[in-house]
Amino acid sequence: MDSSTTQSLPVTGERSGMPQDALDLSAVDACVLVIFGGAGDLARRKLIPALAQLDRSGHLPPGFRILGVGIEKMGDEDYRALLREASDDEADWTGFAQRLSWLHGDFLQAETHERLSAVLDGSSLGNRLFYLATPPSTAPGIIERLAAAGLSREERGWTRIVLEKPFGSDLATAQALNAAVAEGFGEHQVYRIDHYLGKETVQNILFFRFGNALFEPVWNRNHVEYVEITAAEPLGVGHRAGYYEESGALRDMVANHLMQLLALTAMEAPVAFDADAVRDKKIEVWRSIRPMSPEEIRRHTVRAQYGPGTVAGEPVPGWLNESGVARESRTETYAALDLRIDNWRWAGVPFYLRTGKRLARHVTEIAVHFRQPPLSLFPSDEELESNVIVLRLQPDEGISLAFGAKQPGSDRRTVPVSMDFCYQQSFGAESASAYSALLLDAMRGDATLFTRRDGVEAQWRVITPIEEAWAAAPSEPPDSYPAGSEGPPTADRLLERNGHRWRPLDGNTGGCAS
Ligand code: BG6
Repeated sequence: MDSSTTQSLPVTGERSGMPQDALDLSAVDACVLVIFGGAGDLARRKLIPALAQLDRSGHLPPGFRILGVGIEKMGDEDYRALLREASDDEADWTGFAQRLSWLHGDFLQAETHERLSAVLDGSSLGNRLFYLATPPSTAPGIIERLAAAGLSREERGWTRIVLEKPFGSDLATAQALNAAVAEGFGEHQVYRIDHYLGKETVQNILFFRFGNALFEPVWNRNHVEYVEITAAEPLGVGHRAGYYEESGALRDMVANHLMQLLALTAMEAPVAFDADAVRDKKIEVWRSIRPMSPEEIRRHTVRAQYGPGTVAGEPVPGWLNESGVARESRTETYAALDLRIDNWRWAGVPFYLRTGKRLARHVTEIAVHFRQPPLSLFPSDEELESNVIVLRLQPDEGISLAFGAKQPGSDRRTVPVSMDFCYQQSFGAESASAYSALLLDAMRGDATLFTRRDGVEAQWRVITPIEEAWAAAPSEPPDSYPAGSEGPPTADRLLERNGHRWRPLDGNTGGCAS
C-alpha cells in the first residue's frame, strides 16, 4: 500500500454546502477515479455533482483525480465544459475542474485499456477506483479487459471496482456476472452500489433500531401486526423506456432497493457494525423469506401497468402509449408483494412491499404497524388506530410515531396524534447525497453499505421465482391503475383479506411540512 498517497482530510472547511459532520471524515486515500462512461447520463447527473459536492465540503484529498473514459472524441477542456453544470459556483468549479481529464476510447477494446494502463502508470497515485457507469451488458467485457491489462492488480496501492445495478436480471445471470467479476477481481475489491444504502435515513434505520433501548424489545412478532414498505413515484420512466421495458418494477426497485429496506427493518443485530457482520445479517433475512409456489405467487403478488391519467394536474398517457414501449408490453410499472419471513422474530407477520411509477405522490417509507391493545377501555369515534412507527425517506426524511391521546375536554375519547422527528429541522441541513456518501466509503475501503456477492444472489433467489411465475402466466395480463392514483384495487385487496390496509399516498406528508 502506498502510504505516501494517504492524506488526512481537513475537518474544517468554510465552503461547505453540507454539514461538516454529515459524512465520515476519517482518512480518505488520494486515488484516481476512472469513470467508464464518464460523459454518460449517470456520470453527469449523479456522480460528478456528488464529487463536486464532496470537493466543496473539503472531503476530497488534494491529489484526487477523475479520469473519464468513453467513446466521445474530446479533450480535457471539452470534458470539463461538458460537466460544467455540476456546480453553480464559479470559484468552486474552477478548482474542481482541474481534477478532471478525459481518455477517449472504446472501453470494450483491449487497446483502450492498454492506453489507460500507461496513463495510470504515469501517475504518482497508486490507488485506483474504477467506476462502471456503463450499460449493464458491458460490465463483463470491461472487467475482462481491465484484468487482461493488469489493471486489477494491487501493486502500488489498492484497486477497487464499483458496479452499478442491475446485477444480472435473474439468479442465473447474476451468478454468471459474479463469476465474471471474480475472474478479474477479488471480492474485497468489489463494491456493488445500491444508492438507497447511501441515503441518510436508510442508514438511520440501524441506528434507530440498535442505538435505542426503547424500540428493539417490541420489534418482533409479539408486538408487530404487519410492516409496509412503499416506494411510490409520480414520475414515469422518461427516456429510460428501453431499459424499463426489459426490467419492470420488480427488477428495477424490488430486487434491490426494497430488498435492502426489508433487510434493514427485519435483520437481527450484527455482532459489530462492520461490512461482513452487517451483510451476514441481511443475507439471513433474504434467506428466511418463505418461497412461494406459482399458485401462492398468484395469490400473494400483484403486478400492474398505469393507464392514462393526471399527475400534478397534467394529463399523462398510459404506459402502453409511452414512446419506446411496445403496444403489447406486459412490463409491470407497479408491483406489490405479501412476503413472509420464516424466522423466530417474524413468523406470521406480513411484510407488504409496493412500488410503482406514475402514482399519486412521491412517498418512500417503512411503516411498522403494532398490534391493538388487548382490551379497549375507551370509546373512540372510529375504531382505535393502532400505533405505527414510520421511517420516512421521502418526501422529507424523518421518523414519526402515531399513538392515541385523550381528546381534551372530551369524555374519555381517544384521538390519533403523532410525535415527529424531521431530519431537516433537527439537523438544520439537507443530508448529503447518497452518491457522495457511497463514493467516499468506496475511497475509504468501507464496504458496509455495498452488496456482497452472496447478497445479490440471495436477493435474486427471492425475486426470480416471482418473475418466472409471472412470465409463465401469459393469459393473465397485468392489472391496471390510472396514472396519478393510489395503485390498482387488487393491491388493496391483497391487504384487505388480512384485515390490513395501505397507508394512503395522497395527503401523506409525514409529520414534516413539505
Ligand atoms: C433507481 C431506479 O434505481 O431508483 C429508478 O432505476 C427509480 O427507476 C430510482 O426512479 C428511485 O430512486 P430515488 O432515490 O429517487 O427514490
